[in-house]
Parts: sequence; structure tokens; C-alpha cells
Amino acid sequence: MVVREVCNGVYSIGVFDWDRQVFDELLPLPDGTTYNSFLIEGSEKTVLIDTVDPEFEEEFITNIARSGVSKVDYIIINHAEQDHSGSLPVFLELFPNAKIITSEKGKELIKSMLQVPDFRISTINDRDTLSLGDKTLEFIQIPWSHWPDSMMTYIREDKMLISMDLFGSHYATSELFIEDVHTHYVNARRYFAEIMMPFRYPTAQNVKTVRELAPEIIAPSHGPMYKGKEAVDAILDAYDDWCSDRVSNKVIIPYISMHGSTKKMVSYVTDALLAHGITVKPYNLGKADTGRLAADLIDAATIIIATPTVLFGPHPKAANLTFIANILKPKAKFISIIGSFGWGGTAVDTLKGMFPNNTAEILEPVYIKGLPDEEAYGMLDRLVDEIVKKHKELFKE
Ligand code: FEO
Repeated sequence: MVVREVCNGVYSIGVFDWDRQVFDELLPLPDGTTYNSFLIEGSEKTVLIDTVDPEFEEEFITNIARSGVSKVDYIIINHAEQDHSGSLPVFLELFPNAKIITSEKGKELIKSMLQVPDFRISTINDRDTLSLGDKTLEFIQIPWSHWPDSMMTYIREDKMLISMDLFGSHYATSELFIEDVHTHYVNARRYFAEIMMPFRYPTAQNVKTVRELAPEIIAPSHGPMYKGKEAVDAILDAYDDWCSDRVSNKVIIPYISMHGSTKKMVSYVTDALLAHGITVKPYNLGKADTGRLAADLIDAATIIIATPTVLFGPHPKAANLTFIANILKPKAKFISIIGSFGWGGTAVDTLKGMFPNNTAEILEPVYIKGLPDEEAYGMLDRLVDEIVKKHKELFKE
């Protein structure tokens, strides 16, 4: 990556990870990501904001060298997760006089995860400030967007908010500021589902704080930056919507089928719901991009999990998806389970027990023996009728 000026005396010095395919060994990243880092040259002090994933520490140090700075007075750690703090140890070796500034929680985490010595770290409280001479940094804590340590750094004179994970997007792009709005929106939405949705209530409060600040530039830790009122308002409005309890007249059906019986049931339910004007999205868990599925969890009013029985329980791919959906805390109001078994098992009860975070109403599952017959289709009709009725009540004007 090259060193690029964001605004007067503020430089982007992060790196591209064009090839990364999975984050946290869990989330698919079809288009890579970026780890953003910023160098701020004040008239008296120079500050680095965050580092990058340790895999790129060489490139990162090269960027600092290319920036031409000979000393860094402070390094701000907005968030201790290693994709931002992982190159801190090598940075501290190269800049032995640089002081770390972070939150109390950030200090605890970088000490335990990176074994950074205590004497290198100073902690700040919410809304503390740091003068760089002609620039003032204000630290704003935003717990749970993404971790309890999360905070933002606001450059008052430039109205630039370095927002850390908040408002990020996982895709590697050479755009410094958003140019392709559609691509960005799709990626930011998916990122919200995967990273922020489990914490949408504290995140809603943090978005309010950002709105009150009225920044002119928002620079997240992943993906391109938001510049100007239109771009800033667009992402704040999108977050307000995604954080809210609002859902759409939409049903998603994550399914897996081994010998076709469950798939027949999924096709039948899909067509029946479509005939009632409901948006339906089946996801074949043998092939589906779980990031896209997660994005649909933001506003699906109903989730139907469809699985055959494997030995005595649900198919492991359905169990895995149910586990992920539970930790992401989707907003769905209704959940059901459909599928088929050969000779027995407890797939339905197992899946029902995998939703401890869920507050949705469980609609009567349809779990049948073998291929669906007339009686089974009748049961599916009743499930569809129930969903249609529930959605009509939910979306009545
Ligand atoms: Fe991009 Fe929570 O780290």
C-alpha cells in the first residue's frame, strides 16, 4: 500500500489484504479486506492510530518509513483485536520512546494478548483529549462496537472521525473514499451482520454519539472512508435502520438436503410463500455464502431451517448455521423447522435447543418421515398459512 494524504497532515498508511478469504476462521471474505492505520502529524507531536494485522507488519513498517516521519510520540490503540493491534510489538521495538494510549479495557487486553509491558501504556477516559499542537484528538469510547474496549479518535480541527471497526466493510479496494456506492453498501451491510448485529443495541447508542459529533470524514478500520455529508448521513441512516427492530416481509430458508426429500419441502414452501407476495430466499447450506445469508438475517421476519436427520440429529451444516444464527442474534420474529427423517432421531428438539438467544416465536415445525406425501404437503400448507397470517399482522398499515 502507498502512503496517501487524507486531509492536511493526516495520512493513510494501512495495508491491503487482497487474498484473505476467511476472517476469524469463520466469516468468508470473498473480496479480501484492508487494515487501515493513520499517521497524524501535528505541529508538536506525531501520532499513529492503530497498526495492522501481524501478517503485514513488514509492509506496515515500510509505510511508516515511506511517510518520512523520524519519530512517533504516541500510538493510539482504538481496539485490541489483533487485526489492528497485531503489529504493535514490532512498532514498539522500532520506536522505543513511543507511548501507547488506549482505554483501561484496551490496556488489559493488549497486555494479555500481546504481552506489552505496563510502563509503555497510558490510559484515557471517555472524552479525554490530547493536544498535538495545532490538532486536538478526542477519545470517545464505544463499548461493544466491536469489543468492550472499542473507542474512536476524533480529530477536532479536521472533523475527521477514526471510527475503528464501526462503519467498516470487508473488501479490499484501492478507493480511499467510497466511489462505488452500491458495492460499498452491500459490503457494509454484510459486515454489520457479521460484526455489529450481535451488539446492535449498544451500537445504536454509539451511532447516536457519532451523529451528534457531525464528522465530515469517517475513517473506519476496514474498507474505504466516508467523506462529505451525503456519504456520512447515508451510513448513519443505514446503521439506524440495521440496528432497529424493523424487519421486512421476508422469509429465509437455510436448508440442506441429502436425498431430496427436504429439498422438495423447501421448494414447496418457497413457491407457496412467493404466491402470497412474500420475499423468499432459500440458501443451500452445501454451497451458500454464509456472509450473504448473514446479511439477510438483518431484516428477515421469519427463518425456516430445513434439514434431514443424520444419525440421530440435524445435519451438521444445519446445526452449524443454527449456532451461527444464534450468536449473531438476528431480528427474526418467527422461526420454524422443516425436514425429513428416515427412521427416527431428535433433530427438531436439538435445533430448538440451539436458540437460547432467540426471542422469536417458534412456529409448529413440520418434520416428516421419508418423502413428503399429501399429508405432509397439507402440514406445510398450514405452516405457510400461519406465516402469512403472522406477517399480515406484523406488516399491517
Ligand atoms: Fe477489525 Fe474487531 O477488529
